[in-house]
Amino acid sequence: MRMENALENRDTFGVSDAVLLDDPDNTDEFIENLRKRFRGDIIYTYIGPVLIVTNPYKPLPIYAEDSIKKYQNVNYIEVAPHVFGLTDNAYKQLREENRDQCILISGESGSGKTEASKQILQYIAAASRNVSSVETTKDKLLYSNPVLEAFGNAQTNRNDNSSRFGKYMDIEFDFRGSPIGGHILNYLLEKSRVVNQSQGERNFHIFYQLLTGVDDATLSSLQLTRSVVNYNYLNQGQVKIAGQDDKKQFEVVKQAMSRVGFEDAEITEVFQIVAAILHVGNVNFKQDGHYGKIATPDVVKTAAQLLGCTPEKLTKAFTHRTIEARGDFVTSPLTFDQCTYARDALSKAVYERLFTWLVSKLNESLKSDFNGKRTLMGILDIYGFEIFEKNSFEQFCINYCNEKLQQLFIELTLKSEQEEYRKEGIEWQHVDYFNNKVICDLIEERHKGMIAIMDEECLRPGDANDFSLLEKMDENLSSHNHYLSHKIANNVTRKSLTRDEFRLLHYAGEVTYKVHGFLDKNNDLLFRDLREAMTQSNKKILQLVFPAGELLRKKRPDTAATQFKNSLAQLMEILMSKEPSYIRCIKPNDFKKSGVFDLEIVGHQVKYLGLMENLRVRRAGFAYRRKYDTFLDRYKSLCPQTWPHFQGPADKGVELLMKHLGYHEDDYQLGKTKIFIRHAQTLFAIEDAFQIRKEQLVSKIKAIWLGRRQRKAYLEMRKQVIFVQKYARRFLAAREYKKRRWASNVIRGFVIGFMNRNQDANAANEKFLQFVRYQFLRRLAKSLPNIILRHDQKWPSAPKSCAEANRILCKVHRRLVVRKYVRGLDPEKKRQLEMKYLAHELFKGKKCTYEGTVKNYFKEYRPEDLRSRVASIENNVRNSGERLLYCTTVTKYDRHGYKPRERILTLSNGALYLHDAKDLKQKHKILLTDLTGITITNMGDGLLVFRIPPELKQQKGDLIVNCPHVIEAVTKIIDAASQNKSLLNIVPPGEIQHGMNGGKKQGIIEVKKSDSELMEITKRKGHLIVMTSC
Ligand SMILES: Nc1ncnc2c1ncn2[C@@H]1O[C@H](COP(=O)(O)OP(=O)(O)OP(=O)(O)O)[C@@H](O)[C@H]1O
Ligand SMILES: [Mg+2]
Repeated sequence: MRMENALENRDTFGVSDAVLLDDPDNTDEFIENLRKRFRGDIIYTYIGPVLIVTNPYKPLPIYAEDSIKKYQNVNYIEVAPHVFGLTDNAYKQLREENRDQCILISGESGSGKTEASKQILQYIAAASRNVSSVETTKDKLLYSNPVLEAFGNAQTNRNDNSSRFGKYMDIEFDFRGSPIGGHILNYLLEKSRVVNQSQGERNFHIFYQLLTGVDDATLSSLQLTRSVVNYNYLNQGQVKIAGQDDKKQFEVVKQAMSRVGFEDAEITEVFQIVAAILHVGNVNFKQDGHYGKIATPDVVKTAAQLLGCTPEKLTKAFTHRTIEARGDFVTSPLTFDQCTYARDALSKAVYERLFTWLVSKLNESLKSDFNGKRTLMGILDIYGFEIFEKNSFEQFCINYCNEKLQQLFIELTLKSEQEEYRKEGIEWQHVDYFNNKVICDLIEERHKGMIAIMDEECLRPGDANDFSLLEKMDENLSSHNHYLSHKIANNVTRKSLTRDEFRLLHYAGEVTYKVHGFLDKNNDLLFRDLREAMTQSNKKILQLVFPAGELLRKKRPDTAATQFKNSLAQLMEILMSKEPSYIRCIKPNDFKKSGVFDLEIVGHQVKYLGLMENLRVRRAGFAYRRKYDTFLDRYKSLCPQTWPHFQGPADKGVELLMKHLGYHEDDYQLGKTKIFIRHAQTLFAIEDAFQIRKEQLVSKIKAIWLGRRQRKAYLEMRKQVIFVQKYARRFLAAREYKKRRWASNVIRGFVIGFMNRNQDANAANEKFLQFVRYQFLRRLAKSLPNIILRHDQKWPSAPKSCAEANRILCKVHRRLVVRKYVRGLDPEKKRQLEMKYLAHELFKGKKCTYEGTVKNYFKEYRPEDLRSRVASIENNVRNSGERLLYCTTVTKYDRHGYKPRERILTLSNGALYLHDAKDLKQKHKILLTDLTGITITNMGDGLLVFRIPPELKQQKGDLIVNCPHVIEAVTKIIDAASQNKSLLNIVPPGEIQHGMNGGKKQGIIEVKKSDSELMEITKRKGHLIVMTSC
């Protein structure tokens, strides 16, 4: 897509991938494409996967957050070329395929390598997961840069912020792709810069930053002044860089040091050492005979103080040299020049070791404690190829390093790629290229190379010096095509060389080196006295970097060049073990100027960077290759025949897969062990399909997993529910059991109680009896009789155990009912009942008609209408001071002849009266007190005989009456006669005598039992016969 877009605008902005150019052999077209893009501020161009950057020398708005987002999770081929695109691609491979990556940034000094490396870090920090645990690591990775740049970068004529050391940084990622740590390898710091800078150049940034940025108090404690010109190590070249704010930068550095984990004491010590170096630079010597002598002891004192050693020790170390020869130490004074040399050697050594310590400190802080599998992404930002006016040992090393990197690039892209096609049996037209191995060999070949010659010269006994070294090199290398010196050059070239120079024809151009200082720098010796002074320092950092054991070491350390060579060899190994991505930086002009695109300068770089060869191989080659099994492993899910497992050989599987995806033989080729895919687009299409498939698979797996998890949770929950249920059931069962047990005990107790119910209360029947009592009382309560009549019959029966209580209760209750009844009675009724009670006493069981009268109330008048007729009688009674109590019609029988006469019997409270029923004349009055008895029969008759004492003459004897309501009448009379019950005499049938004529004569009344219901009273044989039934 990106390519297609690029094709549309190609006239204005060129093409984004040089592979799309018409002619891969046309260098001018290639450069013109870069220029078009450069003019449009498009600084990035691809050659396939290789990114070319043209340094814009001006800030561009293409590194902000939105740009980062644009490159995240897209195929880099779909978006405009960018360092973010390349980084994202490498990061994706690292995450998804778990393969270590490295990004190699090459280009000459000032071409933008360090900037690119910072952008890579910036992208990774932004694109990786934002987890707090990772944030600190990201922070440390980002903040390590300002620290390293302050101490390791300097302004040169090529670059205002030139890296004066090589840096390889590994970022460590966990399996999720989160940065978890890092490690930095540093390579050969250009330490000569500490003591010496060319015109227009500066010392390392930190010196200037310290002087301008530090606060006044610290400045005076370090005994410094702000003026840069006061310091010999700073006033040789340039003082300030336009656009660089040292003061502000100092704050940044200080803050970065703390963020990365430097303690305050360490930071102070670091600045003390930096200040000490400035003071050391100001130590001057004077001639003292043949020897040198300190001219500025005060400065030595200050320097010693900051370095943590005694001034005496330092003074001696500056002016003397002790040599150990076969166990003996011989000390000799130094000449003036040697003193200066010793002074500078100390500054260089201290600074270099300080720098190494800083790196180790950063590494310590970046170290991760993660134990799982980690993947690495290496970023190599090493000093670029450089040609100065005067090139020395440092440039030699730097350029050698660049040769090695170029070699690696050739190895991995041009050479090995083509070799691989051949080995794999892929049809291939060989592309020619310049292989710089020959130059690398010239420098590093064992025993023969320049480094070997230098080492030999260093170690050689006798008077070896830089000129003898040059001679040696001339001797050994004169036939080499890439080596030239004044001595072996032809007449024309000789003019461009002085006698102390040699020239190397590097892959990137010819560089003339001044041989001066080569041996010394290679030797890199620090006089024993200086080392001793440092090992005795009381500063922690110096103690660490100058270990005391160093003095005892007998073996001579490797020379600087050999050390460098070895470390480069190691670096190459590291790089080779990783999947490389390349950034090739180009600088458009030599003046650090924006908008200037110098065709010649760019053309030169295009040539030596081998970009055209790169393009040609790319055009003809394949964008992607992978071993069959790896490829099949990743993409097998896209074809049903290969998913989930392909049983046959991997190459067959890959073939099936590609056919299934519908690709033609033009799109890919099958080698012996690998598949080769021609266009990246093809791969991306496969990758996209894989991503979609992966998501489907992930959803499926997720669904199954979620299902399983859910089921597991369900089973767990079920288990718990059953567990709880079990306890609940157990509890309920236990409760039920207890209840039943209780119930059965109750029933058993009941049965036993029932069986023993008739015994006296004891343990066996106690409860039962209680129950029985309770039930009885309840029953009783419901069936209590509420009328007094037949109270006892209606009273419920009781079980034996309650018999006594029942009896008492019955009695009490009856009393209660009676009491209630009695209280409810009106006086009249009460009177009636009293009379009835009296009747009961008089007649109960004595007269057979009694029972029939019980239910009838006694009346005052018989018949009831009598009242209206007897008013006169009532008046008479009342007049005689009495109260009428009873009035009834009766039949009176004469004592003689027993003639019946209808009379009215009236009872008052004082007497009995008999009145004629017709005329109501009083016939008899018998005072109750005179009445001696009343005789009646026990039969159903109404016969009534009032016994009257014989002395009462006027009465003429006992009175015989037949009264229809004999019981009522007698009861009332007895009541009126003060209840004298003895008056009444009830007799059985038979003869009843009655007095006549004042007791002189006795009449007889015969009472006879008859079967007839009717009573009959007749007179027979002088007797009154009463026939009655019962
Ligand atoms: N992408 C960029 N955008 C803007 N300016 C850039 C860019 N890349 C580089 N520069 C400018 O170029 C200068 C030099 O870049 P840098 O320090 O990265 O070069 P280098 O290749 O690391 O050089 P050396 O080998 O000397 O360390 C930077 O200070 C910056 O001003
Ligand atoms: Mg740099």
